[in-house]
Amino acid sequence: MTLSPAYEENREAMLERVADLAAQQDKALAGGGPKAVDRHHRRGKMTARERIELLIDPDSAFLELSTLAGWGTDFTVGGSVVTGVGVVEGVECMIIANDPTVRGGSSNPITLKKSFRAAQIAAENRLPTINLVESGGADLPTQKDIFIPGGQHFRGLTEASADRRPTIALVFGNSTAGGAYVPGMSDYVVMVDGGAKVFLGGPPLVKMATGEESDDESLGGAAMHARTSGLADYLAADEQDAIRIGRQIVRRLNWRKLGPSPLTDYADPVEDPEELLGVVPTDLKIPFDPRAVIRRIVDGSEFDEFKPLYGTSLVTGWARLHGYPIGILANAQGVLFSEEAQKAAQFIQLANQADTPLLFLHNTTGYMVGKEYEQGGIIKHGAQMINAVSNSQVPHLSIVMGASYGAGNYGMSGRAYDPRFMFSWVGAKSAVMGPAQLAGVVSIVSRQAAAAAGRPFDEEADARTRAGIEAQIERESLAYFTSGMLYDDGVIDPRDTRTVVGLCLSVIHNAPVQGARGYGVFRL
Ligand code: COA
Repeated sequence: MTLSPAYEENREAMLERVADLAAQQDKALAGGGPKAVDRHHRRGKMTARERIELLIDPDSAFLELSTLAGWGTDFTVGGSVVTGVGVVEGVECMIIANDPTVRGGSSNPITLKKSFRAAQIAAENRLPTINLVESGGADLPTQKDIFIPGGQHFRGLTEASADRRPTIALVFGNSTAGGAYVPGMSDYVVMVDGGAKVFLGGPPLVKMATGEESDDESLGGAAMHARTSGLADYLAADEQDAIRIGRQIVRRLNWRKLGPSPLTDYADPVEDPEELLGVVPTDLKIPFDPRAVIRRIVDGSEFDEFKPLYGTSLVTGWARLHGYPIGILANAQGVLFSEEAQKAAQFIQLANQADTPLLFLHNTTGYMVGKEYEQGGIIKHGAQMINAVSNSQVPHLSIVMGASYGAGNYGMSGRAYDPRFMFSWVGAKSAVMGPAQLAGVVSIVSRQAAAAAGRPFDEEADARTRAGIEAQIERESLAYFTSGMLYDDGVIDPRDTRTVVGLCLSVIHNAPVQGARGYGVFRL
């Protein structure tokens, strides 16, 4: 095909962004830094990522989640925990691994948010959970933010079990105080001899509480728990052995996926996904045709467009991806008008009738404003789309390709609408509106307030405030920042979209896939 003249320019700009993404992700990969990692290795221990690599099937993909958690905060990027879906003995499992190189693997507010998101994904998609435990428990300086809500972690484990989603704890190191309830609440517990330490209170605390003299091993060593307390079901000789036993446990779960199976003989896209680098401009103000993206992510580049002549700034249609059927909604010209909103509401209902998962490709500045559109009922039409999205029961996947502003973020199944997974392309932006528009609105409002109060308006001060606000919103809209706040599940290279969506679809099909059988009242 003929690629646009801007192709090379776009490609260069996107490659720069992708290189920067790798640099940001390196911060998470570094954990607590080389000194802490060295010390950990010298103790004969594996890092969280090394443990995961050994746990999952050789050469299988690990769908890492929330890699940039905490980006833009004072906490270490990654939140001192690694989470993601990995394949163990052919079974997709949620893996949650404490990173002991970051403040002893203790849990801060970011750790908590990230672990809760992982637990939510496991619950919604019916996944077994494997916890790789080595943690100093609550991050003591931030205990006020985590102690009370943190209780949900343990409640979630036992709820998972009640829901027949197996929970497995492989305990490599410290698991004290509240942390002791991770093995305590799990279905299966493996402890590493000489490594695991599982007690409600360590020797100093016991001494303070009761005066009793004790040591780590007799209070909470793996051998004691395997032979005496019975908290450990398996005693592992070392870390590798614990992982071997963990894999053996998964093998015996007799796990069956409950969603429909995909076609196995699907074709790769005819149009090269590599070209995603160049067909999409990095300047979010330049619109692009999302069909160029769709053709590069779906099987055989085959896309059956629905209602192509109506509401043309939203593209809707059917395709397959890695053999799974999907309905796609993709913004084209940015703005959503009444026609687009109604088209979306109809399409989402059709997907629910056919039990077909939906993929939302965001690039929207929101619903159209202005007298003509207000009088034409843009609010109620937007409400129809939001009603359809909210009450839809088929799994949703959201990819923010460009802008995701205003109520457009809601209508396109943004975070608050619980898509099963949501990823942003590097360079995407999510906010209530564009940074320049937002700063302009603040300026108009303060100008009007000054006029109403009869005060003179300081133009210079306004220009400074405006620039300051614009810079602040610019930074806070960045995909890194919103991902850091756990508003999505990760930032990705556009070229990885097909693989990431395909992995997500496979994960989703662990649970039954069934559309809504009824809807709320559609305001007409
Ligand atoms: N909260 C905040 N910081 C903690 C922490 C916690 N619960 N546990 C460890 N850290 C910090 C340490 O202060 C140290 O910080 P520094 O590198 O800036 O000095 C860093 O993590 C590494 O700790 P260190 O003790 O040197 O590592 P270790 O591998 O020898 O031991 C632990 C790790 C977890 C066994 C040990 O730190 C410990 O016992 N922590 C307290 C556990 C506890 O009682 N938690 C209360 C749970 S409610």
